[in-house]
Amino acid sequence: MKKLFSLVLCLTLVLGFISVAVAGEKIGVSMPTQSLQRWNQDGANMKARLEAAGYEVDLQFAGDNEVPVQVSQLENMISGGCKVLVISAIDGSSLTTVLNDAKAQGIKVIAYDRLIMNTDAVSYYATFDNFKVGTLQGEFIRDQLKLDSTAGPYNIELFTGDPGDNNINFFFGGAMSILKPYIDSGKLVVKSGQTEQAQCATPSWSTERAQARMENIITSMNYGPNGVKLHAVYSSNDSVANGITNALVGAGYTKDNFPLLTGQDCDVTSMKNILAGIQSMSIFKDTRTLAERVVKMVDAIMKGSAPEINDTETYDNGTGIIPSFLCDPVFCTKDNYKELLIDSGYYTEAQLAQ
Ligand code: BGC
Repeated sequence: MKKLFSLVLCLTLVLGFISVAVAGEKIGVSMPTQSLQRWNQDGANMKARLEAAGYEVDLQFAGDNEVPVQVSQLENMISGGCKVLVISAIDGSSLTTVLNDAKAQGIKVIAYDRLIMNTDAVSYYATFDNFKVGTLQGEFIRDQLKLDSTAGPYNIELFTGDPGDNNINFFFGGAMSILKPYIDSGKLVVKSGQTEQAQCATPSWSTERAQARMENIITSMNYGPNGVKLHAVYSSNDSVANGITNALVGAGYTKDNFPLLTGQDCDVTSMKNILAGIQSMSIFKDTRTLAERVVKMVDAIMKGSAPEINDTETYDNGTGIIPSFLCDPVFCTKDNYKELLIDSGYYTEAQLAQ
């Protein structure tokens, strides 16, 4: 009995010591930009949850997707005594040198949403199932156009995101795993001929650049409500879909003849467009879930235990597989947005009002 009592006392003291040691430690959170809704949400969620768990947080946004700014912010986090760095990289291949410094000082790195490439300084990766994002988008187009039961052919154009973001390999790759067989058989026709990922990329995921490319394609292919019929546009996310929407509206398309258009993130602008019958769908990635997951990872690392992971096969960053936790993405349309976004408290109806 006495022995048991001393054991319990010992355990309590050790656990108490660990919590005291962890409380107040500094965690660096590096986000790519403040100009997109999602990264503001991700940053705010991470800060609030880490602080609630007792950590001090150094949260930085790298200007408007500026790589040198992100590098210098990370240098400051390292010299400022952060014990763990949570990073959503602008360009997955530009952080090798700075992260070598982090590793040399025993600082652990968690890649947040986007994998950081070509460095063995990354310990864990937490994201959504990015390939599934792409397949959900591709399946939506396949099912809406009834590619398996109608003759076609249907005209489609393809847009993805920033070439330095490893996620586009999975978004575009996932979508093409569904759509490419139909392109190969001629049921889907990409009249612009731009089918390679590099041709479909949108630097910085920029709305303006996507708009400019869509305008060019509309003009050169003679698409329009009174011209050649455009049945669908594949877009990897909402910021790109918004540029495509601007170009299509500019060319005279209305909700009565709008092509199918995919997206991702359920950004407010896109949700309003979905409710107005313009954009067709988005992918809901609940940023609260991702933040909660990453806070658990940080906490496990700080307490010396192994973070929970659910994927040890998919994400090789060039130095080997990075143990990952993949959250589940779901598709969102005007038919299920209430349940997904309003009932879950993600948005209020007023935020989505036109
Ligand atoms: C994220 C998307 C986001 C895009 C642009 C990607 O890495 O996974 O959710 O739309 O970056 O910021």
